[in-house]
Amino acid sequence: MSDMTNCCPMRNGLLDEDRIREDVHGEAHRPSPLPWAIAQLGYIGGDFRAMLDRDPALGNGATAFLEALSYAGFWAILAYRVAHLLRAVGFPILPRFIQALARFLTGVDIHPGARIERGLFIDHGMGTVIGETVEIGRDVTIFHQVTLGGRGNLAGGKRHPTLEDGVIVGAGAKVLGPIRIGAEARIGANAVVLEDVPAGATAVGIPARIIRAGLRDRYLVPRSLLAPGR
Ligand SMILES: CC(C)(COP(=O)(O)OP(=O)(O)OC[C@H]1O[C@@H](n2cnc3c(N)ncnc32)[C@H](O)[C@@H]1OP(=O)(O)O)[C@@H](O)C(=O)NCCC(=O)NCCS
Repeated sequence: MSDMTNCCPMRNGLLDEDRIREDVHGEAHRPSPLPWAIAQLGYIGGDFRAMLDRDPALGNGATAFLEALSYAGFWAILAYRVAHLLRAVGFPILPRFIQALARFLTGVDIHPGARIERGLFIDHGMGTVIGETVEIGRDVTIFHQVTLGGRGNLAGGKRHPTLEDGVIVGAGAKVLGPIRIGAEARIGANAVVLEDVPAGATAVGIPARIIRAGLRDRYLVPRSLLAPGR
């Protein structure tokens, strides 16, 4: 997370309760610093690599490379990276039009204000929504119809979720509010997640319950989230 430490409080490993409180209840969301916004243009290679590494439907070699170019999720992320940079330099309106055009062409709606590290893979893409104050770490995978959104009851500030490195969000899942999904956690298809999910855990259902806790941080799973017998 080296080049992100100054602007985006992502963490690998255990949840840091104080940090969560600060993110969720404390400081208002700040726009990305310009240097990070520029640097993230270099993340595009990582975004492309993510498709080749993580989609078993892609073969090898030149064919896989050309096929990957047809993936709507990649073009949506590319458009987002340009829009995010323009927003960081203070360009008015245009970033939102790029967002709208990308949504029209790909079915994926990423607000230019979101902060996304390298290696995001949006598989299938159609219907995926990523809100303004979302923060996404490295090598995250998101499927179609996923919403990373607000609860509709918070004005301004940080109101959308933070996904740490390596998170996987299944098709149709809704992750709502300024909550934190810990590193390498998995969110089941069609889950509605309203509370923090610890690193390494698996959450499913509506509202989401933890069905499998990461061994390292099992003691951090809130009792209210643990499904009976787990
Ligand atoms: C949540 C998920 C990651 C769990 O995978 P897993 O660790 O292999 O878990 P299992 O399949 O062993 O299931 C464990 C339990 O959770 C339940 N479960 C699994 N996925 C679920 C889901 N999405 N919603 C509700 N319950 C689910 C299973 O029925 C099982 O229940 P049981 O213990 O009472 O029998 C996976 O099921 C999932 O939803 N992945 C998303 C994949 C996706 O979106 N694919 C789209 C491709 S286009």
